[in-house]
Amino acid sequence: MEQKTVDRLYQQVEYENNRTEPPEGFPTLPDLPAGRYNSERFFELENEHVWPNAWLYGCHMDDLPESRSYFLWDRIETTPVIITRDKDDKIHAFHNVCRHHGAAVVDPDQPKGTAPRLVCGYHGWSYGLDGELIGVPDKRDFVDLDLSCRGLLPLKVEQLGKVIFINQNLEAPTLSESMGPMYGDMEDYDWGNTRLVESRQFHLGCNWKLGVENFLEAYHLPVIHKATVDASFNYKGATNSLYPGGQSRMAMPTPEKDPGDLAYPRGAMLDIPTASDFARKNIVTYTLFPNTFAPLTSTALVFLMLWPIDKDNSRFDVMWFGPDWGEGERPEGWDMAIDHLDRTLAEDLAALKLYSSSRKSPAFKDLGVVLNYQERKIYNLHEGIDRAIGVENIPEELRVEQVLEAFHEED
Ligand code: FES
Ligand SMILES: [Fe+2]
Repeated sequence: MEQKTVDRLYQQVEYENNRTEPPEGFPTLPDLPAGRYNSERFFELENEHVWPNAWLYGCHMDDLPESRSYFLWDRIETTPVIITRDKDDKIHAFHNVCRHHGAAVVDPDQPKGTAPRLVCGYHGWSYGLDGELIGVPDKRDFVDLDLSCRGLLPLKVEQLGKVIFINQNLEAPTLSESMGPMYGDMEDYDWGNTRLVESRQFHLGCNWKLGVENFLEAYHLPVIHKATVDASFNYKGATNSLYPGGQSRMAMPTPEKDPGDLAYPRGAMLDIPTASDFARKNIVTYTLFPNTFAPLTSTALVFLMLWPIDKDNSRFDVMWFGPDWGEGERPEGWDMAIDHLDRTLAEDLAALKLYSSSRKSPAFKDLGVVLNYQERKIYNLHEGIDRAIGVENIPEELRVEQVLEAFHEED
């Protein structure tokens, strides 16, 4: 992070701590239409335009531990993907759809492993880990079957060190173009030396956006997190940077005094030597469009990710990454850090349950969601969603007005 950005962020923290109202000129955020969460139409628009064009977390190299490893990506159930590491250690991603009759090539009952080739369990077509179709039983029965154009359909793949991202759109901008100003910050964390430390998976009985939104505002901290994060952080001093494409960053000073139950017990964990001084003195979180909230510190790197199941249900994944500790047990601070986040997330999950019946009520149908200044990252996410869908493709009553562009930051 550049010094001028750091200086500005500290000024903003000071400003946020002392302001008595929203900054002059900040607009009233229009209410978010309820139909963005509870209509099939909006859910379909997201499926058509948002997910197929977004850079999404694929897996970590620990999921592909050696040459010829494969990993079944099933985070969006209707778009299964195989991520592979070929014999030359090159990473690929393919739709898990056989080019014969469209069966799953990697069986969901055996979602990861190592194999010289991927063999479809239905009629035995086989593919190299580079996606090429290499074997067709009874080939003599096919007229003019050109194997070279029947390989598995690829996705675009990029790596941030050992973290693998995938994008269904082969023409998509690069990961760095897509993350924009945040990419430089992300690169500070030595991802090439990370390990996948722990993961969790939950089911949420609400629209996926509600899960993301929960992490984009700190307004709920003093109500539901009294015993956890609210005891450690001063959310009133949080400074938010809005970026194009629905992305954002929040920085919150870490407490000077360790309350003994800190989310990140730094002394008992390995340090990421390349982390910036700013990352050591603040909790910095990133919103990677559309579904990932990433609190990154100088010891622990966390991805909290929401995935759509249907308009009223979603999947919530939590992944912890950290610096490689080599042989032996993980540093003892991890237990405390993971336990702290588990307890915090249990509070969030309990709060999210408050949506599961009320949001289906006919009374909500005509209501909107009211957002304040400190919840502006949520509005920015919705503007990004509409841009990704194409504003002109959205029925007028489901759109949000684009009002935050003037507040996007460059660094
Ligand atoms: S569907 Fe895969 S070989 Fe027939
Ligand atoms: Fe929370």
